[in-house]
Amino acid sequence: MILGIESSCDETAAAVVDGSGRVLSNAIASQVPIHARFGGVVPEIASRNHLVAIGPIITEAMTSAGVTLDAIEAIAVTTGPGLAGCLLVGLQAAKTIAWARQIPLIAINHIHAHIHAPFLRDDAWDGGDGLRFPYMALAVSGGHTSLCRVEGPGVVTTVGQTLDDAAGEAFDKVAKLMGLPYPGGIYIDRIAEGANAEAYDLPRPLYRRGLDFSFSGLKTAARQAWEQLPPEDQTPTAQADLAASVQEAIVDVLTHKAIAACREAGLTQLVIAGGVACNRRLRAVIVARAKKKGIEAIITPARWCSDNAAMVAGLGLALLRQGAAIEGADLLKADIHVTQRTGPTQDA
Ligand code: KG4
Ligand code: ZN
Repeated sequence: MILGIESSCDETAAAVVDGSGRVLSNAIASQVPIHARFGGVVPEIASRNHLVAIGPIITEAMTSAGVTLDAIEAIAVTTGPGLAGCLLVGLQAAKTIAWARQIPLIAINHIHAHIHAPFLRDDAWDGGDGLRFPYMALAVSGGHTSLCRVEGPGVVTTVGQTLDDAAGEAFDKVAKLMGLPYPGGIYIDRIAEGANAEAYDLPRPLYRRGLDFSFSGLKTAARQAWEQLPPEDQTPTAQADLAASVQEAIVDVLTHKAIAACREAGLTQLVIAGGVACNRRLRAVIVARAKKKGIEAIITPARWCSDNAAMVAGLGLALLRQGAAIEGADLLKADIHVTQRTGPTQDA
């Protein structure tokens, strides 16, 4: 049995996964209400709150799995990419338990954990059973938009990524400019349902150029479209139509590039993971369009899409089997660094 710990951004999470990849618990303490009034994650506030939440969330994960620390044989912890101060809280907790219990510690890359998550299982999901390396993965969240070729657990080559904003960030910023709550992705998803996705003619940046993404121009176009409306025309209907139009543009670009990446690499399985993989329109469109091209799209279940520690434990299990753990005296002198998230971050 393995304990996973995740604290890279604004979720403090701990989970217990058994040797078959079955998720026994998946405890998450979200800081969304704390950061909502700033409209984005404030790193220093986030790390202080991780410190408060980390102990209780580990206890909650153990209790709801019905096990004690005696049963835990290894600890997997996210060491990056993420906010340095936040990562340090999870890493320190993990090192402490590993040292005290003399069990192995496995350092986990957050994005690699997202794209390995379909291998997890529970009573409602065994959809990773047919998944084989190598596969293509689209990791799409508030901090990342990457296309990755996955050769094995944690053996990942990035073949495309965003040059500016992440897709989730674009969703959140457009939601914010229309006055929707933070984080706005889920509200866009909700109000877009049944609205007119052709109401606004928005750009599809870099559509036919390579596998990199760019979402900042789309965000600016959405802002201009919204601000050009006189206040009396900024109605719930106009909001829903702009939400649907932005969503369609983002989904269109993500789908087009993910399929192009599979075809270029000659791969027929595509994993979609990360918070934005919860988007219902993305799920529907990518599965249908991939199928037409003979590609099987495997959508990570929503409970393992947004930041969580089950995915960290799951990848930890695979890496442990490959001998990637740090043990005993090495824990004290080990070269375990946290890696700060580079590139675009949320506006706060
Ligand atoms: O993976 P995640 O929980 O955290 C990061 O690593 O960033 O992803 C959070 C992102 C946010 O931008 C949020 O708005 C977006 O995922 N998101 C959605 C939906 N649910 C979450 N975006 C669009 N539609 C959704 N249903
Ligand atoms: Zn994430």
